[in-house]
Amino acid sequence: MKKIVIGNWKMNPQTIVEAKKILKDIKKIVFPYKKTTLVIAPPYPFLGFLSKLDHPKNMSFGSQDISMYEKGSHTGEVSGSMINGLGGKYSIIGHSDKRKAGESDQDVAKKIEQAIISKITPVVCIGETERDGDGSYLETIKKQISIGLSSIPKKELTNIIIAYEPVWAIGKSYKESMHPTDVHEMTLFIKKFIGELFGKDISDSITILYGGSVEVENAPELVRLGNIDGFLVGRASLVAEQFAEIVKAVNAK
Ligand code: PGA
Repeated sequence: MKKIVIGNWKMNPQTIVEAKKILKDIKKIVFPYKKTTLVIAPPYPFLGFLSKLDHPKNMSFGSQDISMYEKGSHTGEVSGSMINGLGGKYSIIGHSDKRKAGESDQDVAKKIEQAIISKITPVVCIGETERDGDGSYLETIKKQISIGLSSIPKKELTNIIIAYEPVWAIGKSYKESMHPTDVHEMTLFIKKFIGELFGKDISDSITILYGGSVEVENAPELVRLGNIDGFLVGRASLVAEQFAEIVKAVNAK
């Protein structure tokens, strides 16, 4: 199974000078962890520059979004082929920040299609905003998966990465993050549902990441008990020492 850690830098840092420095520090510390693929998703203006710098073989770059359109009059949008041209090999799609701003499951489906057309690996974020007692959050997850992946050809499905990020656990402290055994329960649920939709061969081979307040403190337990293939990391991916510890935990699996 693939092991992968993706750093979502969001709208950070503020300058290319700082971005270069963080990347340089990360490269210095992560080189022993060769079994793990590292993906850095910086803001668009830094992507082309950073991806062209020398980097280890197991390091790749990605975007934090992708347009659902191929080209044309779509002010502010960035297409899959542009991302690819900037050296982006992955695109985070359906992040809760975008969903909060109005992105629908149908939009997510179109963005996944555009990524595949542009030979970019989609990192599809799913996750409930809150946990209700009657379990309707599970229906939210099912809807995100069934609509999001509805128009993907079966042969492409094994290349998709699912990032399970319970929205209530994002941007908190590791103490408020999801408990590793609950993460395990959710990855089983996600795999089972994908299996029902597309077959066991797909669910067995699909990569599932966890995201939401992954820190140095909880990463090893999440790896050990969470039944995951890696992480989507926000804040901790901007601090080289912290990011390296998280990568180390995944690499040790
Ligand atoms: P966090 O962000 O690690 O800072 O909680 C995760 C994310 O939003 O992808």
